[in-house]
Amino acid sequence: MNTQSDQAIRKLTFEVFRFNPEDAESGPHIDVFEINERPYMTLYMALNEIRETQDSSLQFDFACRSAICGSCGMLVNGRPVLGCRTLTGDLPETIRLHPLPAFKLIGDLSVDTGSWFREMAEHTEAWIHEQLAFDANAPEDRMSDDIAQAIYEGDRCIECGCCVASCGVANINKDFLAAAGLNRVARFMMDPRDGRDADQWFEVIAGQRGVFGCIGMMACADVCPKELPLLEVYAYLRRRTLGSKFARPCP
Ligand code: SF4
Ligand code: FES
Repeated sequence: MNTQSDQAIRKLTFEVFRFNPEDAESGPHIDVFEINERPYMTLYMALNEIRETQDSSLQFDFACRSAICGSCGMLVNGRPVLGCRTLTGDLPETIRLHPLPAFKLIGDLSVDTGSWFREMAEHTEAWIHEQLAFDANAPEDRMSDDIAQAIYEGDRCIECGCCVASCGVANINKDFLAAAGLNRVARFMMDPRDGRDADQWFEVIAGQRGVFGCIGMMACADVCPKELPLLEVYAYLRRRTLGSKFARPCP
């Protein structure tokens, strides 16, 4: 059986988007770099090699290198992926890299996903709205395994922003919560400890900013590196949202 280490060494060409918005003399352009591929090379390794040997000013983000921190999202030949878990061996010899769209550009391949996620969390009040006063002596609340598992699924989001970048609506409407935001809402909506009622939830997720802003292309579900059940999240939120409104008496 041939392994990647047995194959002939390829010369890889990286076409990398460059732009420093902080530098008045900088303009958006593409720089080209060539390196020799190494066995089991990831984009993280390739970009580090380029920065160490060819251009120390190249900006990109990585922290965990193991698909956990969510900082290394980028467009690779037009598709949002995590750079740290993308093998160059799975890509053609020419690799075009752009920063994720829909987020503020910091420079080159680095974007500010943190501000987007913080604004989303504040808008949706993404924390447990406890109705009972805290009692340190009360027994622990029990939760069914099914609900605990569903909440755990939602919490697996690493906030990489790939789903937001892939979303046609999020790219033209900066207020759209997108799959990452709506997944967060669903996580709290399912949580029995959160005491928000149907009308409060309706205010959070109805309308064009919320679940009915989605036009159903579902690229989010195709690109999510954690394979979160985003189609089910949208279906769940639509059912809950419509239910809350239909339950209201007509004025
Ligand atoms: Fe990334 Fe998936 Fe979370 Fe979107 S839902 S931010 S693609 S992990
Ligand atoms: Fe942390 Fe890629 S470096 S997810």
